[in-house]
Amino acid sequence: MKDSKTHSDALLTVNNLSTYFHTRKGMVKAVDGASYSVNKGEFVCLTGESGSGKTVSALAVLGLIDASPGIIEGDIVFENKNLLDELQNYCTVRTNGNAVNIVKDVPGWRKKHRSNIAGIRGKRIGMIFQDPVSSLNPFFTVADHIGESARLRYGKLNHKHKRGIAVEWLKKVRISSPEEVADSYPFQLSGGMAQRAMIAVALAAEPQLLIADEPTTALDATVQLEILQLLKSLQNEMNLSILFITHDISIGSNFADAIAVMYAGRVVESGPAAAVFQHDNNHPYTDGLLHAALKITTAADDKKFIKGSPPDSVHLPSGCKFHPRCELKSELKDGGERCEREEPHDIKITDNHYNRCWKYEPGH
Ligand SMILES: Nc1ncnc2c1ncn2[C@@H]1O[C@H](COP(=O)(O)OP(=O)(O)OP(=O)(O)O)[C@@H](O)[C@H]1O
Ligand SMILES: [Mg+2]
Repeated sequence: MKDSKTHSDALLTVNNLSTYFHTRKGMVKAVDGASYSVNKGEFVCLTGESGSGKTVSALAVLGLIDASPGIIEGDIVFENKNLLDELQNYCTVRTNGNAVNIVKDVPGWRKKHRSNIAGIRGKRIGMIFQDPVSSLNPFFTVADHIGESARLRYGKLNHKHKRGIAVEWLKKVRISSPEEVADSYPFQLSGGMAQRAMIAVALAAEPQLLIADEPTTALDATVQLEILQLLKSLQNEMNLSILFITHDISIGSNFADAIAVMYAGRVVESGPAAAVFQHDNNHPYTDGLLHAALKITTAADDKKFIKGSPPDSVHLPSGCKFHPRCELKSELKDGGERCEREEPHDIKITDNHYNRCWKYEPGH
């Protein structure tokens, strides 16, 4: 995944993205130097505990975060176009000890940002969220929603044409009575059906990338599995790229081609799913997630369960952000002294598999 920066197959590359919110408590570092990428036709699972910055990083990709009050920095490259291009000119950050002063031209930032994302959100990058019913307008039928999305791709369409496209898409998302559902309003649909309809709405614009943020969390287990299987088959049929956001890393084991694990606003491990789930060379944080989710447990592994809670995103710890919860740091030669002092960089394990952990630095 990481190497896709230079890879011709890279569709989306998020590089060193920071998204800070200026709040009364101080600067919330929701995303703090995150890097990940999605190649063409790839299903990438972005995972990590609640509050690790998954949603905020996706919203930044979708251009749904305003720089006011806050900061968005780094690169979001979609099909070779940097969506954050020139935005730094409008938002200057000066570091003064721990304080960050912001000098901004907010209207200028918004105008530039709108022009950068124009023609991309909804058209080339589609999205689905956790609660499909509230993402749909209660006054419009399913066919109206799908028709509007198709219009982004095909321009003006008459009612009959829009409805025809809607029925076709409802068939593609395996809805059993597509004609009936096309004429339904959102409140008439079950949760699973509404999520299928939402997928049809997102895909009717024929985007290259679908961002799915916890799309199955609100659904019961069997429907969850059906939606995942549907996304997986659409990925193959349409050569669609999917960025699937979930706090449940186990979803990645069956569906993902690649995994990115976020902790405290950064990606601490990324790599092909097969390498991450091999469970040999993981970041201690990923190790903990895998032990908890896949219940790989023996008495000797007890220390691999993650204790404590994620750090406060205003007051992040020094060094490795995971070190206060890391049980393995004491096994390093220096007893974890460097982990407390210095933030690890991405260390290459094998092709495309990276870990941000001093444990993997040669000599440790
Ligand atoms: N608009 C905002 N203003 C201030 N802080 C915010 C804002 N949006 C998000 N945050 C904070 O940013 C951090 C990251 O939030 P985010 O929603 O990205 O987490 P997440 O990984 O998606 O978690 P979850 O699994 O619960 O959805 C959290 O600490 C959150 O409280
Ligand atoms: Mg979230």
